[in-house]
Amino acid sequence: MHAPAADAPILFFDSGLGGLTVLGPTRALLPTAPIVYAADYAGLPYGQKSEAELAARVPALLGRLVERYQPRLAVIACNTASTIALSHIRAALDLPIVGTVPAIKPAAEITRSGVIGVLGTEATVRQPYVDDLGARFAAGKTVLRHGSPGLVTGAEAKLRGEKIDPAVIARAVAGLRDQPGGDAVDVVVLACTHFPLLADELQAEVGPDIRLIDGAAGIARRIAHLTEGQSWPAVAAPGIAVFTRSNDRPPPPPGVLAPYGIGRIETI
Ligand code: DGL
Repeated sequence: MHAPAADAPILFFDSGLGGLTVLGPTRALLPTAPIVYAADYAGLPYGQKSEAELAARVPALLGRLVERYQPRLAVIACNTASTIALSHIRAALDLPIVGTVPAIKPAAEITRSGVIGVLGTEATVRQPYVDDLGARFAAGKTVLRHGSPGLVTGAEAKLRGEKIDPAVIARAVAGLRDQPGGDAVDVVVLACTHFPLLADELQAEVGPDIRLIDGAAGIARRIAHLTEGQSWPAVAAPGIAVFTRSNDRPPPPPGVLAPYGIGRIETI
């Protein structure tokens, strides 16, 4: 493979705005990296979709995006798409792909009680991929899971400056706490890229003794490692955000994306 041109972008992909939580730490490491941020608003929420739907939809859409933007690397900044469709995506595309999977490994390293909570979408928490992560990295520990579609809606609303219903946060936390053994959870994995956008609200609800963790910093380091030695522009150019067209959900106002270095919004 040829070395990518300096202006070849990194493509970030999510169903919505959750992937911005991965874009943020990546820009901190690679400040002049050209960015294309893609959000499948026509398919949001992925957490309510079937495995078959996502395994067909995501690789096809990524194929279109790769053709259009010619990225050097694609980041599937979505736990739901990654835990279900990563192998399909890798089989369909001929470029480096970085996935996002629940941070169970680091959670297992820091838990003292041995009880880890995983908050994700409903689709993510039922994946065998998550069973495998638990078996490989948290053997002998308890991994409780809860799927919360409300937090996805809440995170989208918060970024647009809308009010979040506190009951949504309380319900998500109760979904872990009320399970047998739930009182002993001392680390909660935010296993959906939307959820770190609600970290303050979730931390206030769980209290100061429970740690919230996510994989974004590790993913950013992985992206930096995979692109080490490649050339980048001397100065950052404004990034592009691309949204699949949805009648119910227009792209957010530009001010929402500007802090992430996005200067142009397109729809496809
Ligand atoms: N941000 C996505 C994730 O990490 C999913 C949100 C959704 O579309 O349900 O799982």
